[in-house]
Amino acid sequence: MKTIDVCLSPDLMHLYRVDDRKVVIVDILRATSCMVTALAHGVAAIKPFAKLDDCLAMKAEGYYTAGERNGEKVDGFDFGNSPFEYMDPKLKGERIAFTTTNGTQAIARSEGAKEIIIGSFLNLSSVTHYLKEGSDNVLVVCAAWKGKVNLEDTLFAGALVELMKESIEPDCDAPLAAQRLYNLARYDMVDFLKDSSHVKRLNRLNIHKDIQFCLTPDQYDVVPRLINGSLII
Ligand code: MLT
Repeated sequence: MKTIDVCLSPDLMHLYRVDDRKVVIVDILRATSCMVTALAHGVAAIKPFAKLDDCLAMKAEGYYTAGERNGEKVDGFDFGNSPFEYMDPKLKGERIAFTTTNGTQAIARSEGAKEIIIGSFLNLSSVTHYLKEGSDNVLVVCAAWKGKVNLEDTLFAGALVELMKESIEPDCDAPLAAQRLYNLARYDMVDFLKDSSHVKRLNRLNIHKDIQFCLTPDQYDVVPRLINGSLII
């Protein structure tokens, strides 16, 4: 049976092999939720960057620039990191260069993976179906917060383990821990996460509606994949 493992923080990536498996990047609040929303609403491609300057430089090549640092929009960028910004019809067919505090860093740290896809609650069922196909082992990489484990990404990893439990075996205890946690939280994730660090941070920044939206399963039937350095569907 194929296996699933969960890397709870990008700082633990040295423990995992990626070249032979599908890697699912997850940053529920809010980077991967934005990526899924943007591509589902018709954005042509998203090019993820770890560094601000590299992202900004893409303006010269006709890209919109987008993202955040510490949850706040970056000066000089076109868009921030709220999924609602990416529902704008003017973005249809456009390309976006994107950088975030943790989400795009997790993508960079997964370089060399057999395949990289983007997961969020918004496309939970589509990602589950995609991972069930084929025989590749799976690694879920939680973007976390500056190396520290967070609850919301762990819950998403647990949801995947729970939904695939008939067809995939946990590689270690992290997937089991994530699954147990998800089963505790699944009926009211907003309440479960109310004391979590990034929810509190977003609330301090007056960002409330993104939280509820990013925790709503199955809004979009897309599976973004990283192909030649760009996320596309
Ligand atoms: C990140 O990449 O760390 C997040 O998406 C932060 C945020 O909520 O803006």
